[in-house]
Amino acid sequence: MSFDARTFRNALGCFPTGVTIVTTMAGDASPVGVTINSFCSVSLDPPLVLFCLDNKSTGLEAFKATRRFAINVLSQHQRELSIRFASRLDDKWKEVPYERWGDGAPILGGCLANFDCTVVEIREGGDHQIFVGRVERLHCGDPGDPLVYYRGTYARLCEES
Ligand SMILES: Cc1cc2nc3c(=O)[nH]c(=O)nc-3n(C[C@H](O)[C@H](O)[C@H](O)COP(=O)(O)O)c2cc1C
Repeated sequence: MSFDARTFRNALGCFPTGVTIVTTMAGDASPVGVTINSFCSVSLDPPLVLFCLDNKSTGLEAFKATRRFAINVLSQHQRELSIRFASRLDDKWKEVPYERWGDGAPILGGCLANFDCTVVEIREGGDHQIFVGRVERLHCGDPGDPLVYYRGTYARLCEES
C-alpha cells in the first residue's frame, strides 16, 4: 500500500455526498439512529439500497437483529440533527419526533426523502458491515436544499438566495 490512512480519508473526502440518518427500532422498542453518508442506490428492480456501518457502532447489533432500517435524507436545515446523530450522546433522540410506518423503522420528519427497508443481505466489508435493503415504502418530499458533506465538512449544493 503506497498511502497512509489519513491520505486515504482525504481522497475519499473529495467525493461529495448527501447526508442521511439511518434508523432502526431496537428490541426494547428504543429508537436507534446514526449519521451516515455511505448510502447508495443498488438496484431499481427490485428496489435495493445499501449503507455501510462501522463495526464499532453502538447501533450495530440492533441493525443486525431487527433486519429493518430507514434511510432519512437530510436537508440543509437538519445540520444540527446530523451532528447529534454522529455523536455518542446517551440520548440522541431527546425531543426528536419520529413516526413509524407500520412495524418499520423510525421515520424523521422534514427530510428530503425517506426509505423504509427490509434487510436482504449483510456482508462484511473490512471494518464495516454492508447492509443491503429492499425498499418497502418511501416518501419523496418537495425539492429542497440538501445537506452535503465534502472534504470533512458540511457544504451547500445550492447558492444562497
Ligand atoms: C457526515 C458523516 C457521515 C458519516 N458516515 C458514516 C457511515 O457511512 N458509516 C458509519 O459507520 N459511520 C459514519 N459516520 C460516523 C458516525 O455517525 C459516528 O461514528 C457515530 O458516532 C456512530 O454512532 P453510534 O456509535 O451511536 O452508532 C459519519 C459521520 C458523519 C459526520
